[in-house]
Amino acid sequence: MTIIIAVDGPAASGKGTLARRLARHFNFAHLDSGVLYRLTALSVLEAGGNPAIEADAMRGARGIDLSRAGDPAIRTDLVGMAASKVSAIPAVRAALHDFQTGFLAHPPGDGPGAVMDGRDIGTVIAPHATAKLFIDAAPEVRARRRWLELKGLGIEKDLETLLGEIQARDHADRTRAISPLAKAPDADLLDTSNLDIDAAFAAALALVEPKVSGALKDRHRG
Ligand code: CDP
Repeated sequence: MTIIIAVDGPAASGKGTLARRLARHFNFAHLDSGVLYRLTALSVLEAGGNPAIEADAMRGARGIDLSRAGDPAIRTDLVGMAASKVSAIPAVRAALHDFQTGFLAHPPGDGPGAVMDGRDIGTVIAPHATAKLFIDAAPEVRARRRWLELKGLGIEKDLETLLGEIQARDHADRTRAISPLAKAPDADLLDTSNLDIDAAFAAALALVEPKVSGALKDRHRG
């Protein structure tokens, strides 16, 4: 059984950065599940389709090109909003579910563990994860982080507009009927509003390390 660290949270909460650093620390595989929804959305938009229509969204989900996972085109908020729309369609979630559980069953590199970040990892994709984190931060802090991230990609955007978009997407993600964004009851909550990346990582590590160490010991014993 793979040792799984599930990292969930709202838009621009810093979950992706934390998940990547946790994966590097433990030498585990990492999957940002948001990329799957963003690639689906990109594929729909590039084909001139409507991300809210199931047939278009499913064509997008089947046409995912994982080699574009690092493409800055998926990072725009237009794609983020479209990702939020395709992600509310049950057939799309079902199609991407298998990809994610397959990744967790056989993480690339065949190491003992995997870190996955998203919205429903601790609740739906990996309810039996070894450790679960729910990362949050005040909306204004998250908008500023996204502003900086986009600036780094050469995209200039008004802070107020970004805040509005983040709040709209959070609302859509939290209130959708299927797999809504929610903290799993057994997840540890980490509010990073007042923490820089290093402090957030130290706090995250303190929460997951004992659980991961215990699971690694059990594996060696078993
Ligand atoms: O980077 P950011 O936190 O803004 O978003 P993301 O993690 O890339 O996810 C983009 C969108 O995909 C989210 O707003 C969700 O609607 C959807 N998503 C989801 O429904 N379930 C996941 N496990 C991951 C993302």
